Amino acid sequence: EGGVKLIKSGALVTCTHLPYAPFQSKDAAGKVVGFDVALIDLVAKKLSVTQEIVDTPFEGIKSGADLNSGKCDVAAAGMTITDERKQVLDFSDPYFDATQALNTLPGKEVKTLEELKGKRIGVQGGTTGDDYIKAQVKEKSLDLEVVAYKDLAALQQALATNQVAAAVGDLPVWNDYIKANPGKAVVTAGFDTGEQYGFAVKKGNAELLKAVNDAISASRTDGTYDKIYAEWIGE
Ligand code: ARG
Repeated sequence: EGGVKLIKSGALVTCTHLPYAPFQSKDAAGKVVGFDVALIDLVAKKLSVTQEIVDTPFEGIKSGADLNSGKCDVAAAGMTITDERKQVLDFSDPYFDATQALNTLPGKEVKTLEELKGKRIGVQGGTTGDDYIKAQVKEKSLDLEVVAYKDLAALQQALATNQVAAAVGDLPVWNDYIKANPGKAVVTAGFDTGEQYGFAVKKGNAELLKAVNDAISASRTDGTYDKIYAEWIGE
């Protein structure tokens, strides 16, 4: 594949932050699988290498630190394309649309941030959900304590054990959680943030970026994208 340089021979090394089902999570056998994994596998195949996945905190992924230091070739982490992140990463074409969801325990449904007055709301630290809620608190002078958790599992655990009255995060991820754990949470409201996920490479790595974009666009044309979508997201 024309001029693509990889950090390790025979592998396309992907940074992600687990767990983030249905985009990336471990299956019963401990293998990392998901929507993003399947799409990046197409890129690896095109490059005649195999994908190798590194689980690492989201902060290092979105800041560009992991790509810059050569920890990985590509970042695939259900990551939203933002102007701020574009300064430090080169994003692929968008491959998935997302919004933010407000979630509570069943029976404790609250539909607005205003109703959570004086309560704690959980987010995954450093994510767009975190940014969105903090901006809302500021803009509307809400009396709300925003608690940031280190990963999605910790956030979901906090909601399940009543450490927070509500949790905010990417809708497709919360839909998947509720499908897998019926009764553990309900989506009570959506915030239409109009987000789009992108894969990222180190700034300036145009060759690899092209391989990623070519794989995405080929998958959309040949039906593979739809198959992967049906497998991981559903109807
Ligand atoms: N889409 C959100 C963002 O970009 C959350 C991504 C979190 N990803 C993860 N693998 N934990 O901020």
